[in-house]
Amino acid sequence: MQDTKKKNVVIFGMDNSWDLAVEIGKKIDREVNSIQKTTFADGEVLLQSNFTVRNKNVFIVCHTAKPVNDNIMSLLVFIDSLKRASANTINVVITYYGYARQDRKVSGRQPISAKLVADLLSTAGATKIITVDLHNPSIQGFFDIPVDDLGGQFIFTNELRKRKEKFVIVSPDHGGAVRARQLSELLENDEEIAIIDKRRTGPNKSEILGVLGNVKDKNVIIFDDIIDTGGTIINAAMALKKQGAKKIIIAATHGLFSRGFEMFENNEIIDEVMITNSTGIKNTGEYKKLKILSMADFLGRVIEANINKSSVTEVYYDYIRTNKK
Ligand code: R5P
Repeated sequence: MQDTKKKNVVIFGMDNSWDLAVEIGKKIDREVNSIQKTTFADGEVLLQSNFTVRNKNVFIVCHTAKPVNDNIMSLLVFIDSLKRASANTINVVITYYGYARQDRKVSGRQPISAKLVADLLSTAGATKIITVDLHNPSIQGFFDIPVDDLGGQFIFTNELRKRKEKFVIVSPDHGGAVRARQLSELLENDEEIAIIDKRRTGPNKSEILGVLGNVKDKNVIIFDDIIDTGGTIINAAMALKKQGAKKIIIAATHGLFSRGFEMFENNEIIDEVMITNSTGIKNTGEYKKLKILSMADFLGRVIEANINKSSVTEVYYDYIRTNKK
């Protein structure tokens, strides 16, 4: 990277994403800066840079997972501070975009909160969003600023290619079929994908109507964007087992685990759960089945492409090419 371009770049890590930000900084040879944060007696927050950002191209590494509302508000306040301090560009690297599942009115009188969050980020002063596996890629269109919605399947491809076994990639619902097919194609898989026929029966509740595709005597990877309560994935795993699936691996970009990880760790039909570090979840060794893949290399390359104004699409393929064993 040219020195002049490098000098004008400042990277901040929000507290919730500090480790990932530091890892990214190492990959691209940039220092990562912390943010000065004050929380007032009434709960209000004030975030600011400790040094000038005038005319700088700023990258903020953050996520807006739990506590979603606090994380969003802190991010907005910090973006506003950068705008008022005359930053040149404000690039927000949101590894997990909270409220993405409220992307349409499912019934009358509902909000479209994914659009509201997009408006808030733009109004605060974000000039570019870099995110990973938006629940619905159409959310990119909720912004009038550029959005790089990176595919989580590239991160899983590198890991899954190391495995010797063959797998059928399964989408746990109709909405994830495209994502599952992309992963299957990246893995150059000769098996057809399978799709779980899932119906939402209420908030945080779903039921399975059937499995489309053949999983009998096959190892399967259930690939989803989010594990929240775990209901969708556990139900999918049970349905696949009933249909004769052998090994069951779960791969999901964003692990929220709102009801804890024990339901996976203690479930004998599940062999392994792979997530990325998009939500700041850590495994200090207590969970044998949980594997956390780092996004640092991938995001570092994308940030560099943004700094150098080069192609992000090429980063995708370079990333899986250079990691090919
Ligand atoms: C739904 O469409 C999403 O892709 C995920 O499958 C869902 O958000 C997972 O939620 P939970 O773990 O609570 O079932």
